[in-house]
Amino acid sequence: MSALLAAGNGASLDSVAGTEVIGSARSPSPQPSPIKGEGATPPLPPRGGGVGGEGEFRTLCALEDIPRLGSRVVQSAAGDIAVFRTADDAVFALHDKCPHKGGPLSQGIVHGRQVACPLHGWKIGLEDGNAAAPDIGCTKPFAVKVEDGLVLLKV
Ligand code: FES
Repeated sequence: MSALLAAGNGASLDSVAGTEVIGSARSPSPQPSPIKGEGATPPLPPRGGGVGGEGEFRTLCALEDIPRLGSRVVQSAAGDIAVFRTADDAVFALHDKCPHKGGPLSQGIVHGRQVACPLHGWKIGLEDGNAAAPDIGCTKPFAVKVEDGLVLLKV
């Protein structure tokens, strides 16, 4: 497994094949943006990658590099993925595209186990990507976990 580790102050991250951290949203403290990886590693072709998909877990960053109630955006061959951190340090990953009209969920407000889309306020479940009723729609969730303080994303 390739490692993607954050340097001090979140100043830089290295890319892994097909995955690159390009910025953060809703950070309580300013962070450099965009964060570009080194080298020109071509993106991996889509390999499933969603929850229960056939991708593999790759180390993305330290948990501390994702602001509480905020997110980071990861570029992948499957599209931009928003990785969210809740108030209780749970981490979730969704395709960074609202099921309504494609708003950037990474720019939304995290509350509980939902994120409110910044465009029209739909509430999207972080665990399954489903819009809360009465809205109908779903964005793709991705498997993500935290081990030893590191965030691992299945892509
Ligand atoms: S695009 Fe997200 S609520 Fe409309």
